[in-house]
Amino acid sequence: MFLTTFPSSHLGFLLLPIHCLLETNAFEVEIKEANTTCISAKLRINFTVEYETTNGTSKNITFTAPEKVTTDGSSCGGAAPLLNVHFGNGNLWSLNFTKNDKEYRGSVLSFTYNLSDSALFPDAKKKNLVISTTNTSFFVPVPLNSSYTCLHDDTVTAQNVVQLYWNVTLQAYMNNSTLGKDFHCSADIPSTTQSPTTYSTTIPSTTTTPQPTTKPVDKPSVGNYSVLNGTEPCLLASMGLQLNASMLFEGKNVWTALNIDPSNTNSSGTCGNETALLRLTNGTTVVEFHFVIKEKNFHLKEVNVTLFNVSDLSYKTNFNLSLWEASLGNSYLCRKEQLITVSEDLYINTFDVRVQPFNLNKGNYGTAEECFADSDLSFLIPIAVGTVLVFLIILVFISYLIGRRKSRTGYQSV
Ligand SMILES: *[C@@H]1O[C@H](CO)[C@@H](O)[C@H](O)[C@H]1NC(C)=O
Ligand SMILES: *[C@@H]1O[C@H](CO)[C@@H](O)[C@H](O)[C@H]1NC(C)=O
Ligand SMILES: *[C@@H]1O[C@H](CO)[C@@H](O)[C@H](O)[C@H]1NC(C)=O
Ligand SMILES: *[C@@H]1O[C@H](CO)[C@@H](O)[C@H](O)[C@H]1NC(C)=O
Ligand SMILES: *[C@@H]1O[C@H](CO)[C@@H](O)[C@H](O)[C@H]1NC(C)=O
Ligand SMILES: *[C@@H]1O[C@H](CO)[C@@H](O)[C@H](O)[C@H]1NC(C)=O
Ligand SMILES: *[C@@H]1O[C@H](CO)[C@@H](O)[C@H](O)[C@H]1NC(C)=O
Ligand SMILES: *[C@@H]1O[C@H](CO)[C@@H](O)[C@H](O)[C@H]1NC(C)=O
Ligand SMILES: *[C@@H]1O[C@H](CO)[C@@H](O)[C@H](O)[C@H]1NC(C)=O
Ligand SMILES: *[C@@H]1O[C@H](CO)[C@@H](O)[C@H](O)[C@H]1NC(C)=O
Ligand SMILES: *[C@@H]1O[C@H](CO)[C@@H](O)[C@H](O)[C@H]1NC(C)=O
Ligand SMILES: *[C@@H]1O[C@H](CO)[C@@H](O)[C@H](O)[C@H]1NC(C)=O
Repeated sequence: MFLTTFPSSHLGFLLLPIHCLLETNAFEVEIKEANTTCISAKLRINFTVEYETTNGTSKNITFTAPEKVTTDGSSCGGAAPLLNVHFGNGNLWSLNFTKNDKEYRGSVLSFTYNLSDSALFPDAKKKNLVISTTNTSFFVPVPLNSSYTCLHDDTVTAQNVVQLYWNVTLQAYMNNSTLGKDFHCSADIPSTTQSPTTYSTTIPSTTTTPQPTTKPVDKPSVGNYSVLNGTEPCLLASMGLQLNASMLFEGKNVWTALNIDPSNTNSSGTCGNETALLRLTNGTTVVEFHFVIKEKNFHLKEVNVTLFNVSDLSYKTNFNLSLWEASLGNSYLCRKEQLITVSEDLYINTFDVRVQPFNLNKGNYGTAEECFADSDLSFLIPIAVGTVLVFLIILVFISYLIGRRKSRTGYQSV
């Protein structure tokens, strides 16, 4: 028998096989110990198995791991957790894990199939159990407390078996039952070829380590956006937006710049007496600007970014901004590039901003209040030169007066 054994010290733990979701052909399991989940896995697998048929020929058969699975024999197991997934008549997909102080990864992956399972192998010549084991890693090392996510296909090949995976979400060494930050496989990371958005980094989909290119990103085009109250605009904004996000890529942080293309960006939002919201939606990327009124001025208070469809949970928010301030009835204008820090791994570069979230002038911008960065500091130079000149003249004049007094005294003394 192939039955997996594990150290008896782990037997005392409470191991609970958990639910399968309704999503067809994706199984979802959680391995628990003392009510705390240590392994969570949800994935789809297609197995292609080559076996010998009754008439002596080889045959390939492809089948999908079903939704209905059990997890007997799985173990949180401290340093070497084990995930056992049983399905059908004695088929077992089994993966154990290993870690160091920073990362974890799959260790040994084995698939045991039962050639006497007539549903899968009706014409198999032999009727034995076959164990196909591979050390080729099922997934790359993943930072601890992150969950490995790969929506794209990936294959693992072993003797007589090819396993094709997709829609994988898997985390081991969990310590508080919560899935960590998504760590995506390279295939999921958007590349330069993806339109309409452009990325500054070229990330090859092969296994080579990506090198962020140093090539500067084009300036984003400026878009005109508005929020309507009935048919009349109640919020106007125009700006060029570039998101600059740090994404985990095979254990490395890669800065990726993404220009928001106004031609396929929709604006929506709300106007109010105290607060206003501008929401820009470009595909699955959403940038929200929250404005508030403080005394006689408005300013940008909060920015909320939802990034890339591959990272479903990627909400980043900065609640505590005090930017883009101007008097009510006026608009804020800044031609220079500005940087908004949304979080430590997400920045927004803004270009040619003009915005008025309150008190529009019949649907149009009011007077522009230009940001300090735009103001040409050269006007200060004549003032500085003038000040120095006046000071020098006064100095000369004083010395003249002193000189005259001295010479007068001289005359008198003679
Ligand atoms: C696990 O949860 C159950 C019910 O929620 C509770 O009765 C049990 O005491 C818990 N066990 C541990 C070890 O926390
Ligand atoms: C027997 O072999 C032939 C090819 O030689 C194949 O087409 C056929 O499907 C096989 N039959 C069985 C029952 O496996
Ligand atoms: C089965 O699939 C494997 C891998 O794709 C291939 O090498 C082999 O030739 C196939 N066998 C048959 C009988 O089609
Ligand atoms: C998985 O296998 C099934 C047949 O069992 C097939 O219909 C399906 O297209 C395969 N999926 C992929 C992604 O290859
Ligand atoms: C393999 O399949 C046969 C037939 O369905 C079944 O009797 C046997 O118990 C299975 N083996 C295991 C290890 O489950
Ligand atoms: C995983 O299991 C294999 C046997 O199936 C064992 O040789 C290997 O040491 C295990 N890996 C770890 C990290 O325990
Ligand atoms: C669980 O742990 C992760 C990382 O260790 C942490 O970010 C998260 O806040 C924790 N959640 C709870 C509910 O403690
Ligand atoms: C945005 O508005 C400005 C001024 O109203 C105009 O000059 C510019 O062409 C507009 N840009 C686009 C892309 O519509
Ligand atoms: C993105 O941010 C990183 C870190 O601050 C910086 O090194 C990089 O130059 C930025 N890229 C762009 C296009 O602003
Ligand atoms: C929206 O329009 C209504 C009716 O024209 C007006 O009463 C209200 O003040 C407007 N609200 C804003 C925020 O401009
Ligand atoms: C950020 O935006 C997302 C999507 O619009 C929303 O679900 C989330 O609640 C927002 N977060 C905050 C703090 O506003
Ligand atoms: C993510 O984008 C891909 C194509 O880029 C699409 O097929 C998929 O449905 C999207 N997923 C979500 C959740 O929007």
